[in-house]
Amino acid sequence: MHHFRYVRGRLYCEGVSVESLTKQHGSPLYIYSAKTLTDNFNRLHTALSPLNHLICFAMKSNSNLGVMRTLADLGGGFDTVSGGEIQRVIAAGGNPRKCVFAGVGKTEDEIVFALRKGIYCFNVESEPELERINRIAGKLKKIAPVAIRVNPNVDAKTHKKITTGTYDNKFGIAFEKIAGVYARAAKLKHIRLRGLQMHIGSQLTQVKPFADAVRKVAPLAAKLKTKHNIEFLSIGGGIGIIYEDALASGQATWWERKENRDLLTPEKYAETLVPLLQPLGLKVLLEPGRFISGNAGILVSRVEYVKRTGKKYFAIVDAAMNDLIRPAFYESFHEIVPVKQTKNRPIATDVVGGICETGDTFCKDRPIPRVEEGDLVAMLSAGAYGFVMAGTYNTRPMPTEVLVNGKKSAVVRKRQKVKDIWAGEATAPWQK
Ligand code: LLP
Repeated sequence: MHHFRYVRGRLYCEGVSVESLTKQHGSPLYIYSAKTLTDNFNRLHTALSPLNHLICFAMKSNSNLGVMRTLADLGGGFDTVSGGEIQRVIAAGGNPRKCVFAGVGKTEDEIVFALRKGIYCFNVESEPELERINRIAGKLKKIAPVAIRVNPNVDAKTHKKITTGTYDNKFGIAFEKIAGVYARAAKLKHIRLRGLQMHIGSQLTQVKPFADAVRKVAPLAAKLKTKHNIEFLSIGGGIGIIYEDALASGQATWWERKENRDLLTPEKYAETLVPLLQPLGLKVLLEPGRFISGNAGILVSRVEYVKRTGKKYFAIVDAAMNDLIRPAFYESFHEIVPVKQTKNRPIATDVVGGICETGDTFCKDRPIPRVEEGDLVAMLSAGAYGFVMAGTYNTRPMPTEVLVNGKKSAVVRKRQKVKDIWAGEATAPWQK
């Protein structure tokens, strides 16, 4: 569920008109719905209520402080992947004690910081990392809580750039080696074996790969519980969302049709996984990112020009691949809708940004109601891996972010000033 709707022909985020927000704050503009974030979180929380569980929001998907605070206030923890992210948790008013710290490349400084802040657990990805954490914890006279990431070698059947759970990937430690690693880790003085972790990939739209992975890993978790007294199993993130919903007729909308689709709902996820997990008697951690934030955000952009070349119809908009890179990077689909509904007939359109690369294309030959210069369009499902992957390529400032809650709205990140893009740069001293 989400809370973007047409009301009398105008797109609204909850109780606030998208057009009015864009008038006030300009474009490109990210808009997030607090109610959608809350509903998504609560829906998953309720579905998993038979389990003792903790939802650690994968903040890599959206680390805006306003978004994070919304989730922290619901009792959520955070899945972090850098010292910077742990600092952000603190800045957002979140609790480091509900944070896991993942990633294959943790630096010494990051480990020191995480230990000092008392995070819930390190998700360890290799034996050298385990030794490093043990050594640093020893120096700080601390005991580091650790879960080792098991690579279950299960194909998540998702995009090749975001699949993580097979032996072709850099993540985790091979299933067959895990028992030996725990036995060695148990001898390390400054390590406490707290859990076992896995994550097989992102944007999974079927429950089967999750079930396959849990079935494979559950007996291992049970053994580790008996042998090493671990307290939790983390089953990672990866619940997929609906991006695609042809707007071919100009009638069907994302929200009217999506409930009919065979999507991976939290209820289906829980129905399959709870019976597999419950007998373990372990606390269950989850690391969803996209499921919570994906459909909670849109990117609004203004049409600067329309251009016909040969057979093609281009809408050149003021957002570009630097603002939302997913279409360029993964050829991913974001539905694009007019902010003001029109009776214009759909026309095969390439919506493109102004950057000097052909990859700077949001959609190709997609039938969308004909747009004109000055019109606003919204790119949907942009709340996850949108702003966080944005950059300043072509010296384009980072866009504004707004959080809506009911009839209230607030700028939760100001548009970057152009000169701040090169703040911190300098010419060399010899360049007079
Ligand atoms: N846990 C771990 C260990 C992960 O690596 C990830 C995502 C998550 C949790 C959260 O996954 P989610 O629930 O959001 O699927 N930039 C890409 C997605 C990269 C995902 C990386 N890891 C995209 O735009 O599709």
